[in-house]
Amino acid sequence: MDRYAVFGNPVKHSRSPWIHARFAQQTGQSLVYSADEIPLDEFEKRVLDFFAKGGAGLNITVPFKERAWALCDTHGGFAAKAGAVNTLFRNKDGQLCGDNTDGIGLLRDITDNHRGQIAGKSVLLVGAGGAVRGVLPSFLAENPAKVTIVNRTVIKAQELAALLVGQAEISAIGFEELEGRVFDLIVNGTSAGLHGDLPPMPSSIVSTDTWCYDMIYGRGDTVFQAWARQCGAAKALDGVGMLVEQAAQAFYLWRGIKPETAAVIADLRAELSASDQD
Ligand SMILES: NC(=O)c1ccc[n+]([C@@H]2O[C@H](COP(=O)([O-])OP(=O)(O)OC[C@H]3O[C@@H](n4cnc5c(N)ncnc54)[C@H](OP(=O)(O)O)[C@@H]3O)[C@@H](O)[C@H]2O)c1
Repeated sequence: MDRYAVFGNPVKHSRSPWIHARFAQQTGQSLVYSADEIPLDEFEKRVLDFFAKGGAGLNITVPFKERAWALCDTHGGFAAKAGAVNTLFRNKDGQLCGDNTDGIGLLRDITDNHRGQIAGKSVLLVGAGGAVRGVLPSFLAENPAKVTIVNRTVIKAQELAALLVGQAEISAIGFEELEGRVFDLIVNGTSAGLHGDLPPMPSSIVSTDTWCYDMIYGRGDTVFQAWARQCGAAKALDGVGMLVEQAAQAFYLWRGIKPETAAVIADLRAELSASDQD
């Protein structure tokens, strides 16, 4: 049976095995998928061992996405520009290929599942870690009017913006510079919510037309979603759809079949509501 896994640290709460089992069942594919916690100093060796022993594909999560990118012989899609990969496989020449499906996952959730628009919009990306780095190139390809990256460590936002300058109007700022600006779409790509924290954003950046999207998710509203609702945002969405859509794109890269996502998103949401931990 073809073998897949997600490599991360920590990884035990990953929903990826559950999602890929659903995709395999739905499409009649025969595969196994595990979540493997990898010691920080063993990542490269464990990836190469996995493929040497016949493994078919890997998902990569925190904190290894940049190291996975560096390990690849070739990068597909937007991964070359992103500098971070979340999906690995071998091509027919035996090369290790890396792709980043987070951007496609986020875009499909916003534009297909929720019928939102990015073209012509003023977008604020909150955070400058692996997640924002991964989605930024696909976001720019949708032709937003303007992209602003805000991060606690401003230099990281500036470095990220500099990598992609020229592709759209893109700027990098600190949180204190948000006052007086309003955005059409605000995407929270920080991990602050995992600790119950909210990045320091003034409510004035949200209008009644603003869509707010949190890449994280939990049993109920995330801290960022609750804040967005309080500010009167038009939409306050979580990252469940992104998670399932990025997995669907990885499944497609590995198996050549695109699974249906709507039922899996609904069932995952029900699972999360029923579970005793996020
Ligand atoms: N739904 C999905 O499919 C999906 C996909 C990818 C990622 N994610 C989620 O996205 C989140 C970010 O992932 P990542 O890989 O980018 O993590 P990361 O590389 O560790 O980056 C974390 C980011 O959060 C910022 N941050 C952390 N705590 C903060 C706080 N209290 N106030 C303000 N900013 C804070 C960091 O700012 P500094 O740079 O200043 O430290 C950095 O920009 C994770 O929670 C992950 O689970 C979800």
